[in-house]
Amino acid sequence: MKRIVVTGGAGFIGSNFVRYTLNTYPEVHVVNVDKLTYAGNLDNLKDLDASRHTFVQADIADAEAMAKAMEGCDAVVNFAADSHVDRSIMEASDFIATNVRGVHNILEAAKAQGTKRVLLVSTDEVYGSIAEGSFRETDPVGPRNPYSASKAGGELLGLSYFHTFGIPVIITRGSNTYGPYQYPEKVLPLFVTNAIDNEPLPLYGDGKNVRDWLFVEDHCRGVDHALRHGTPGEIYNIAGENERENIALTTKILECVGKDDSLIRPVKDRPGHDRRYSIDSTKLKALGWEPQMDWETGVALTVKWYQENEWWWRKIKTGEFLEYYKRQYADRGSA
Ligand code: NAD
Ligand code: DAU
Repeated sequence: MKRIVVTGGAGFIGSNFVRYTLNTYPEVHVVNVDKLTYAGNLDNLKDLDASRHTFVQADIADAEAMAKAMEGCDAVVNFAADSHVDRSIMEASDFIATNVRGVHNILEAAKAQGTKRVLLVSTDEVYGSIAEGSFRETDPVGPRNPYSASKAGGELLGLSYFHTFGIPVIITRGSNTYGPYQYPEKVLPLFVTNAIDNEPLPLYGDGKNVRDWLFVEDHCRGVDHALRHGTPGEIYNIAGENERENIALTTKILECVGKDDSLIRPVKDRPGHDRRYSIDSTKLKALGWEPQMDWETGVALTVKWYQENEWWWRKIKTGEFLEYYKRQYADRGSA
């Protein structure tokens, strides 16, 4: 693979993936297609080697622009998405446009151009909540919020293009990802940056919902591994194997920042809040991938990154972010 199109490469995981790819494969040129929504940020790409990285500002929901960007590529890896569950609960139409219609455009361009690999980055959320045990790739999907439903829609279209047209589609389903460059609407960077500023940490419900935490570089290696070693038509779970209740994550963050529990503010729960996510990645492990970061070290590293990179997040936590924050949290009160 010499020319890889990465969509959503100015976002959190996408930018880490572009960096990982350029550092790992000296022969690869990345074409990075990103609309630059509120979550896209060219600051995430500042340190990249410009001679092997072309940035194209375009919308994956624009069929013509997407087909043009994919001309001559060997593979496309789709990270572009509207990705925040709470925003999908407020208003879901952008989620459908990008996560379903946008994926359709990528599949159509791949079909017209004979692209050798189409990797659709998806999420463990498509399975829904599980009380005990862990989901395998053979389990049915059961998404329970508009975000995860739109991701499942994109996946199903992808699989249909594999079965109907033989398009070499591979799907990955990753767990909750954390690390540098994550937009501070997601729980971990939100709580870290609020704690630094002595602002309350709005913990939903009883704080006992469980998420599986996957360090961003482990996620990027997993996507890359599936791209290079996976079989078309197959789905691969990418688990962090670090399941924690939200309250445990919250107290760990406070410990790392050096603040006490009085900053925790229990607030009204997220509607339809999935109780527990858990996936089994035996299938990807059999191909030679495994997560490397242990949770304590990963959280400490991430907190340190936010402490040392205020230049990155302080300008984000203004304007659009503050408007969103007010809408999202103003009426939540205490649980
Ligand atoms: P993010 O919100 O940080 O970044 C999304 C990027 O996509 C942004 O740069 C944005 O500008 C771009 N984008 C949005 N709509 C677009 C469009 N129509 N056309 C082109 N670009 C567009 O998201 P993330 O957390 O980095 O997630 C990346 C992918 O990984 C998503 O597909 C998400 O569903 C999946 N995922 C995320 C997690 C997680 O915990 N963050 C876990 C599993 C899977
Ligand atoms: O599981 C993978 C998914 O993880 C990805 O597909 C999504 O793109 C990503 O956003 C993430 O979804 P979650 O909804 O799990 O992430 P979020 O950071 O929004 O919330 C994590 C947990 O923390 C969840 O149980 C809700 C809770 N939470 C979240 C926020 C923003 C709070 O208690 N308070 C908050 O303010």
